[in-house]
Amino acid sequence: MQQDRLWNDWHPVCKADELGDDPKQVHVLGERVVIFRNEKGVHAFKDLCIHRGAALSLGKVVDGKLVCAYHAWEYDEQGACTKIPALPCERPIPKKARAVVYHCEEYMGLIWVCLGDEPEQLINYPEGEADGYRTIICGPYEVNANAPRIIENFIDVAHLMFVHEGMLGDANHAEVVDYNVDFVDGHLTTSKIPVYQPNADGRSKGGYTDYVYQVLRPTVARFTKTTEGSDEEFTILTAVNQEDNEKSRVFMLLTRNYELDQPDEPYREFQDTIFYQDLDIVESQKPELLPLDLQAEMHLKSDALTIAYRRWLSELGIETGTLPLDEEKLERMKKKSAVK
Ligand code: FES
Ligand code: CO
Repeated sequence: MQQDRLWNDWHPVCKADELGDDPKQVHVLGERVVIFRNEKGVHAFKDLCIHRGAALSLGKVVDGKLVCAYHAWEYDEQGACTKIPALPCERPIPKKARAVVYHCEEYMGLIWVCLGDEPEQLINYPEGEADGYRTIICGPYEVNANAPRIIENFIDVAHLMFVHEGMLGDANHAEVVDYNVDFVDGHLTTSKIPVYQPNADGRSKGGYTDYVYQVLRPTVARFTKTTEGSDEEFTILTAVNQEDNEKSRVFMLLTRNYELDQPDEPYREFQDTIFYQDLDIVESQKPELLPLDLQAEMHLKSDALTIAYRRWLSELGIETGTLPLDEEKLERMKKKSAVK
């Protein structure tokens, strides 16, 4: 089922350096989650104290334990309650006094959370760890749209010449050559797609660049750009956290193997500009839920990757691209999304 599927996926919730000594509230697939850090690493619980339902994120971390702000129950990182101050000391702590624990990892400067019992493998981003490469984090960008719409925009080649004209594309070079999409090692990969770029990365070098796109997970995709005759590689990994049905938060890792000693700020500014060029389009798209029925909308050969993406979501049983929807809301969204 759709819920189960993304439920077991990893979702980026914040930058690792945003999580300091205090717990922090985040949202994943409509769930309220608290993340915190102690000497053993990063941890995620349902943001709810079992005693009286207060948000644990209002509390603090003391000696490695998450302490509720309301009556100071203390939880260790396994979710076990280890102290109830109101309880006379001869009485044992009830076994049921536990927090709901989720999976939590720190990777590539981001904190990732998985709510499900059978987590998928966390993505692997070799460039991010390789010598001679430099990675910066852009975002998080807030978007009022579903994660699949955002991923689909990121992997859409044919918009570069129009939405990002003068930067990542040129309307006079709008044709997209035929390319292949393969399913390799559990993800979608394209062959090289040449795109004429007037001003790639703001470095004012007009010419053709080859894009290779990969969709790693339903809400994580990447591309690498290379140019023939050059060793330069530029990669963007986009990971989307579907916070609730209508809101997403997008993180982007930008990795380059050139200009390593140059300031990062121009790269970040360039990416911010590009992202905000896409924002209005993505937020305007109807239906909000990516139509997985290939009879809906129109497809060209140049859309081969987004078609493959929709098929893959379909195969995974991710029917709507949004997650734990209550029935009523699902119905409402389906109605709203029905193609007129
Ligand atoms: Fe958390 Fe009472 S609600 S300790
Ligand atoms: Co774009």
